[in-house]
Amino acid sequence: MTAITIEGKCRFTGRLQVPGDKSISHRALMIAALGQRPCTIRGLSNGDDVVRTRRAVEALGAQVEVAESGEVAVTGGVRGARGPIDLGNSGTGIRLLAGLLAGFDFTTTLDGDASIRQRPMDRIIDPLTAMGASIRGSGENGSLAPLTIEGRPLRGIEYTLPVASAQVKSAVLLAALRAEGPTTVHETLPTRAHTEEMLAAAGVRLERGACSVTVWPGEVEPPDVEVPGDPSQAAFWVVGACVAPDSDLVVENVYLGQARGGFIEVLRRMGADISVDSDSGDIRARSSELKGTRVTAEEMPGCIDEVPILAVAAAAAEGDTIFEGVDELRVKETDRVAAIAGLLDCLGAGRRIDGDTLAITGVGRAEVMGSGTVDSRGDHRMAMAAAIAGAVGRGSMTVEGFEATNTSYPSFARNLEHSTGWTP
Ligand code: S3P
Repeated sequence: MTAITIEGKCRFTGRLQVPGDKSISHRALMIAALGQRPCTIRGLSNGDDVVRTRRAVEALGAQVEVAESGEVAVTGGVRGARGPIDLGNSGTGIRLLAGLLAGFDFTTTLDGDASIRQRPMDRIIDPLTAMGASIRGSGENGSLAPLTIEGRPLRGIEYTLPVASAQVKSAVLLAALRAEGPTTVHETLPTRAHTEEMLAAAGVRLERGACSVTVWPGEVEPPDVEVPGDPSQAAFWVVGACVAPDSDLVVENVYLGQARGGFIEVLRRMGADISVDSDSGDIRARSSELKGTRVTAEEMPGCIDEVPILAVAAAAAEGDTIFEGVDELRVKETDRVAAIAGLLDCLGAGRRIDGDTLAITGVGRAEVMGSGTVDSRGDHRMAMAAAIAGAVGRGSMTVEGFEATNTSYPSFARNLEHSTGWTP
């Protein structure tokens, strides 16, 4: 395990670029693998999660070439893999591929690391089974990875998501490409829309309503993709710059489409000085005095991955910040409600957990936040949230299990050095 120690009282300045959006990167590779024509992807995330998806589509039969520039050329082909496919830590990888593969005529086993083997897979097994899929899982209820998917003919369904999850929506929509008849997914709260956006761009017949998507089966003609910067990664720097004194930072070229920019709204309500250039996707954040706010359950899908770093903003703010509807955070890469509580204790902020509500009482200013040692619990976002908290707090912070950042952001430490002058 790798630990880093950060001295605190940093300020954030300059301009930086974050890795390509992770959600878009997974989908770009998968849709390219289904394609009938070669295509290129620029700006693909270099995190381990996406590397696993790249290897998975290669194992399944696609040809992938990575140029020195990072540009990726994919020639589609899905014919079946020789052995099990290991998706590492990636919930998006395993859940979306399960949907994509359910309607082919071969058997595939999808697996992942210890965290993936504990995360709920019944949420995709249920709708895919209703489409006619055969998916055998492990564990008492057969609802855990590894998953063995025996390809079957599928039929279209109409399905209402029981949890607000873009991964579940996407698994069903990818399965729908090989089903008999159209498939409609209804959602009660809008989640990220990358799958439907990218399938439409790939020429798939598709209809989008206010809270529903219908996909008809058909061939995929993947376009070339330019992956924009990942807003979930930008959020770390935006919060750092807002809570640290004398800071003024720009994160360049960030994706800010459906259900991805919610953290900016939350921070603005807290009093953050953030401006967004919607043409370039550049986000500028400057030192601000933050006060508490209420984040409703309806807002949660739009900032689900940003709650760990928003909790750091709340810890630095004046007053109470309430996060409602945090249940889904318990089934992420780790139980993030428990992990955030541990981080807040270290920072000296108050916190109460009541059912699916997390209330945080801030200390008022980042420079008076406490520090100590925090374990990432193998969760990339917890490692990065703790590192930013350490960079802005009053003392020296050690983050154990820092290597978890490789999951989505291998250059995080370099960017921290670049924007704060911190040296590892
Ligand atoms: C993702 C959807 C979200 C998010 C995850 C990426 C995606 O998960 O937390 O990091 O790419 O579709 P859920 O769909 O489980 O909410």
